[in-house]
Amino acid sequence: MLDLNGIFSLLIFLIPPYIANSSPVVLGGGAPLDQNIKLGDGQRLFGDGKTIRGFLGGTIAGAVAGGIVALYYPLPFFPNPQVQFIAGFALAFGTLFGDAAGSFIKRRTQTAPGRPFILDSVAFLFFALLFTYPFASSSLYDLQNLAFFLVLTLIIHPLTNALANKAGLKNVPW
Ligand code: CTP
Ligand code: MG
Repeated sequence: MLDLNGIFSLLIFLIPPYIANSSPVVLGGGAPLDQNIKLGDGQRLFGDGKTIRGFLGGTIAGAVAGGIVALYYPLPFFPNPQVQFIAGFALAFGTLFGDAAGSFIKRRTQTAPGRPFILDSVAFLFFALLFTYPFASSSLYDLQNLAFFLVLTLIIHPLTNALANKAGLKNVPW
């Protein structure tokens, strides 16, 4: 079972991916990541919701957040100290990669940017966990940890989106 220490570790672990996932709303804008490329289905590769600035800004913000955390408290599940800073970057890069992959699937299902979609909430986390697989200890992928990540993210993601909407950062509350 997860005790308080375990939950604390999981929350620390989530700082880089959560920062990476939320910062593009503020840092994004400008040229689209997909260079306006359309696929055979007539839909964009990723769409206007994924910009180069958002991708780079989110990756850097998440990696820097991970680096700052690691200075004070070792990022959990990365027992090798030399891997600490790479881990933050891998989590952040995986997050933005997963975010774009989610949009890719969204476009293939003809879902417009900004429309809610279940993958919005979890694709980034899946890829963050995948990209850190080479350096993370296998206990990260325990079922109870994955269940915690999933449930917390499914609650937090819509909440932060609604907050960002109230704060005028996003046009739609999801
Ligand atoms: N954003 C960005 N670049 C990214 C990711 C996000 O600029 N790589 C910005 C965009 O302004 C985007 C906003 O953050 O509209 C919210 O992100 P998200 O909800 O992921 O995008 P959506 O607009 O909903 O588009 P999609 O349907 O493709 O997810
Ligand atoms: Mg969205």
